[in-house]
Amino acid sequence: MPFPFPPMPRLRQFIFLLLTCLLVLSMQKGAYSQFRKAQIEPPAREAEAEEEVQAPMTADEGADKNRFYDPRNPDHATLQKGEEMRTQLPLDKRGAVDWMAALRSGAIKPRTDLTNSKPHQVLNLDIILKNTKEMPWVRFPHNSHTEWLACSNCHDSIFVPKAGANEISMEKIFRGQFCGVCHDRVAFVTHNSCERCHSVPHANSKQWW
Ligand code: HEC
Ligand code: HEC
Ligand code: HEC
Repeated sequence: MPFPFPPMPRLRQFIFLLLTCLLVLSMQKGAYSQFRKAQIEPPAREAEAEEEVQAPMTADEGADKNRFYDPRNPDHATLQKGEEMRTQLPLDKRGAVDWMAALRSGAIKPRTDLTNSKPHQVLNLDIILKNTKEMPWVRFPHNSHTEWLACSNCHDSIFVPKAGANEISMEKIFRGQFCGVCHDRVAFVTHNSCERCHSVPHANSKQWW
C-alpha cells in the first residue's frame, strides 16, 4: 500500500473525511481565495454620460420606434417621422416596408452619392447558389442590389466575386456574416422570408412554409 495511506480501510476513510473537512474549513477562511466567487464592483457610471448605449436594431424596429431621431436637433419638428413614412410605402406580407417594391414604383429614388453625380452601375447577373439541402436554391440577383448599392459594398470584403467561392451557411447569415451583413439588419428579415432568397425549386426541394 503506497504512502501515506495506512492499510486499514476504516482509518483510510477517516483520514480522507478529515482532510475534506479541513479543506472546506480553510476555503471558508479564505485561504483558497481562488475558489470564491469573484467580487468585482461594476465600474461607476460617469455622471455626465447622458445617453444610454442602445442595442443595434433589426430592420423592422427602426421604422416603428422613431429612435433614429435626435429631439435636440433644431430640424426635428420638420423631419418626416417613421410612422408617417410607412403609410406612403408598400408593405410586405409581414407588414414591414417592401423596399424593392418602393424602389420599383419610384416611391424612393436612392442616390449614388450626396450630389447624385453619377448613375448606378447596374449589373444584370443572377447567381444561383445550390448548397441549400432540401430548401429551394438561392437566386442572388445582382440587379436588385446594384440598383442602389455599389460593387464595393460587397466586393471583396463580404463576397469574393467568384460563383461558389464563398462558404455561406444559414448559421453564418444569422450571425451577421455574408447576406446577414445587411439582411436582418437593414434589408428584409430572413426568418419568415425564406422564399424570397430560396426561390428556385429543384427536384429534391420541399416547400414547407
Ligand atoms: C437573405 C437570403 C436568405 C434567406 C432569407 C434565407 N436563406 Fe437560407 N441560405 C441562403 C444562402 C445564400 C445559403 C447558402 C447557399 C450556398 O452557399 O450555396 C443558404 C443556405 C441554406 C441552407 C443549407 C445550408 C445550411 O446552412 O444548412 C438551408 C437549410 C437554409 N438556407 C434554410 C433557410 C431557411 C429555413 C430560411 C428561412 C427561415 C432561409 N434559409 C432563409 C440565403 C438565405
Ligand atoms: C449585395 C452584394 C453584392 C453586390 C453589391 C455586388 N455583388 Fe457581385 N457577387 C455577390 C455574390 C453573393 C456573388 C456570388 C458569390 C458566390 O457564389 O459565392 C457575386 C459574384 C460576382 C461575380 C462572379 C460571377 C461568376 O460567375 O463567377 C462577379 C464578376 C461580380 N459579382 C461582380 C460584381 C460587380 C461588377 C458588381 C457591381 C456592379 C457587384 N458584383 C456587386 C454579391 C454582390
Ligand atoms: C450590402 C448589403 C446586402 C448584402 C450583403 C445582401 N443584400 Fe440582399 N438586399 C439588400 C438590400 C438593401 C435589398 C433591398 C431592400 C429589401 O428588400 O429589404 C436586398 C434585397 C434582396 C432580395 C430581394 C430582391 C427583389 O428583387 O425582390 C433578395 C432575393 C436578396 N436581397 C438576396 C440576397 C442574398 C441571397 C444575399 C447573400 C448571398 C444578399 N441578398 C446579400 C442588401 C444586401
